Amino acid sequence: MNIKITLLPGDGIGPEIMDEAVRLINLVVDRYNITVHYTTQPVGGKSIDKFGEPLTDETLDACYSADAILLGAVGGEKWEDLEHHRKPESGLLKLRKSLGLYANIRPAKIYPSFLGDSSLKAEVLKDTDFVVLRELTGGIYFGEPRGYDSDKGWNTMVYLKEEVDRIAKMAFSMARERGGNVISVDKANVLECSQFWRSRVKEVHQQFSEIDLKHMYVDNAAMQIVRDPRQFDVLVTSNLFGDILSDIAGMITGSLGMLPSASLGDRYALYEPVHGSAPDLAGKNMANPIAMMASVAMMFRHSFQMTQAADIIEEAIERSLEQGYRTNDIHSGETTLVSLSEMSGYILGKVEEIFNNQAIGVFTL
Ligand code: IPM
Ligand code: MN
Repeated sequence: MNIKITLLPGDGIGPEIMDEAVRLINLVVDRYNITVHYTTQPVGGKSIDKFGEPLTDETLDACYSADAILLGAVGGEKWEDLEHHRKPESGLLKLRKSLGLYANIRPAKIYPSFLGDSSLKAEVLKDTDFVVLRELTGGIYFGEPRGYDSDKGWNTMVYLKEEVDRIAKMAFSMARERGGNVISVDKANVLECSQFWRSRVKEVHQQFSEIDLKHMYVDNAAMQIVRDPRQFDVLVTSNLFGDILSDIAGMITGSLGMLPSASLGDRYALYEPVHGSAPDLAGKNMANPIAMMASVAMMFRHSFQMTQAADIIEEAIERSLEQGYRTNDIHSGETTLVSLSEMSGYILGKVEEIFNNQAIGVFTL
């Protein structure tokens, strides 16, 4: 089998963690007799420096022709003062919109060996396993009109029926495969846009009556995630609320440096860590590669139906954590502080170990 992967390393620590993602992919595909064709393209600040815009047609074309896209991170102080549509972040937003990646999946699941290291209490976190399903191509991120002048700034929060319906459908379908429970998060006590969201979610729910549906206001949801995260199974919400809640949920996994994500549409799929470009860590071999490597696991699972490969990567991450290896962002107490490349090396070593101890059949689609 041949697969095409487009790599968008981006800014800050993006290129360093992408290198480790590629090593991981190569190690895995070798075992399954798959040939990968990589294309690497600039995005974000890198693209601005080279071409004056954060997302070129060439990069976009490379994404259209890929079976899966991996993105590192975009942004940095250097490009902060540019106008909205020229910023690195707007490249990422245009990419999501152009590829129709309307569903962003961010899993909040604690690695068992990490229970004692989180800033939240182990007894609160134990057995937490939920996903934030964030609507990614609508809402206030894209609504018009938008702008600012010397007297005011404005944005528009708007959701179309089709946009809410398709993400609600995905939430209920996911819940069917998981714990059977959906919590839809909105601000329907204040915003009309949220009232509409809630009414559409209720309507779509009629086709999924076996799924338990609750509605929660976003302020309450933020509190509930840290108070009792086990109550969540699938948390579905709009673009802005999902942006905020997924960072909170990220802390459940101990550090944003551990949280992967998948952005899916009807045709394309992009995988990226939830954390940003961390410019202060860039080039220092200090960043945490786990979110990026776990994003590779999500890619194998969702884009290539390679469940076993995904499970092996996740298991390798768990075993490396179990041995006490920690990058700077998650290091504390008696754990062993390691660099980015060391952490990745341990994980790759565990992947090999698991492969060697298992009779892995040749994978075919
Ligand atoms: C994220 C990021 C992006 C977002 C930025 C970089 C545009 O924070 O993926 O969560 O707000 O969606
Ligand atoms: Mn964010």
